[in-house]
Amino acid sequence: MLIPGDVTLERIKSVQPKAIILSGGPNSVHVSDAPQLPAGFYDYVKEHNIPVLGICYGMQLLVHSLGGEVQTVEKDGEYGRMSIRTTQASELYRDETDHAQMVWMSHGDKAVRLPDGFEPVATSEQGTVVAIENPAANLYGLQYHPEVQHSERGIATLRRFLFDISKVPADWKIENVLEEEMAKIRATVGPKDHVICALSGGVDSTVAATLVHQVLGDRLHCVFVDNGLLRYKEAERVMDTFKNHLHLPVTMIDHSEVMLNRLKGLKDPEEKRKAIGAEFINVFQSFADKFEKEHGITPRYLVQGTLYPDVIESCPPPGTGQKHSHMIKSHHNVGGLPKDLKFTLIEPLRELFKDEVRALGRLPALNVPEAFITRHPFPGPGLAVRVLGDVTEGGALDVLRQVDEIYINTIRDFGLYDKIWQAFAVFLPVRSVGVQGDQRTHSSVVALRAVTSGDGMTADWYPFEPKFLQTVSSRICNGVRSVNRVVYDITSKPPGTIEWE
Ligand code: XMP
Repeated sequence: MLIPGDVTLERIKSVQPKAIILSGGPNSVHVSDAPQLPAGFYDYVKEHNIPVLGICYGMQLLVHSLGGEVQTVEKDGEYGRMSIRTTQASELYRDETDHAQMVWMSHGDKAVRLPDGFEPVATSEQGTVVAIENPAANLYGLQYHPEVQHSERGIATLRRFLFDISKVPADWKIENVLEEEMAKIRATVGPKDHVICALSGGVDSTVAATLVHQVLGDRLHCVFVDNGLLRYKEAERVMDTFKNHLHLPVTMIDHSEVMLNRLKGLKDPEEKRKAIGAEFINVFQSFADKFEKEHGITPRYLVQGTLYPDVIESCPPPGTGQKHSHMIKSHHNVGGLPKDLKFTLIEPLRELFKDEVRALGRLPALNVPEAFITRHPFPGPGLAVRVLGDVTEGGALDVLRQVDEIYINTIRDFGLYDKIWQAFAVFLPVRSVGVQGDQRTHSSVVALRAVTSGDGMTADWYPFEPKFLQTVSSRICNGVRSVNRVVYDITSKPPGTIEWE
């Protein structure tokens, strides 16, 4: 169970935890209002013999609160992929001594003196202590993020902590999520209620729609918005799949003119995201008003395919009481929602990550076609977060659509689509000088991005072979007249995000 970091000891006790993980976060223990452990925490975990694992900030909090020393690193913070090495036999890594692994780090503070009873059991290449333990007190700490896909043996270490050290039963199953979420919908939505579903054409909202459709049948009304920010032929393609393969009841609404007018002149990524979120809701509200007029019933619920990463990055979302995470970007379906939203949200995937959503969609009960399940993610704000700055200037959207189509088709031609988590092109608001057909050009620059990831929370850039890069670059410059330069983005997440805005 996930609970905010600033809860009372009573709240922790009410959960009766078998183990506690103190998560990472953007804070430093030296900041005055950084999250603290409630008074009596250590007595409680000692009395009940509850193992505690601190991750990143969580480890620094353990060290600091138990009398060790945490220092803020002025330079040389460790962000992204790092190599670490175990230094002695330990509970966390068992008998793996002197064993190297790549892990994902993102920290500016580090432990320089450990509290009594703790042993350092792994260090980074820079000499930072990155794993500590005090098995007698059942306290453990990892400076890196074992939960992300790019930490090579991270999941094994988490399994070790949860299932071996803490003896938590390994009984989480995706089938149970399906049952639980269906039961919640039955309990929430009354027998005469009608429900609207925001369908984007991506795997998340499609799985959410299919799940809710199983429960509500024809009381579910899916709305697919052509917001003018879609990829080449996207609307035709997804409508065909919805109707002919998924048999979902979908209405397509063309809102492109209004959306593009609203975006005119907006350059700031957050302003763009909020405007798009608000326009989406306007469409769903108009649909609900029309439905009420025609049928005398007000649809009060809105289904969204919100995932847990959308919630984390848009934090602190209203009403969650979370004040210790930073907003990275307002995902249109969370932080981009208007304050006076009239719908009650139904978000069956809100606690899941993308790989779990894919597993859910593959269950025979939902049976979403594999081609849909394996589609690369596409953000709700669409190409608006891939045309940097003002989306409506100088035909950028059209150029981007053509470049994106060539790029994705080339990836398919090389048999790479399923090896990549997400690939897309970005239109840069700059021009560069080139020479095409012996003539000087002063034209557009596009960046290509392709990443591997497990859950979108961290990502690494995809190492294309030179042959691929040569082919795609020449196909783009030959195929799209106004582009004379193609660059490839070699930034992981962190420090970059996957999208550029
Ligand atoms: P970032 O750019 O935050 O993206 O590293 C992580 C994943 O989320 C997608 N993304 C969004 N999806 N609404 C969405 O539905 C949004 O506002 C949004 N912003 C980013 C992004 O494409 C990537 O897969």
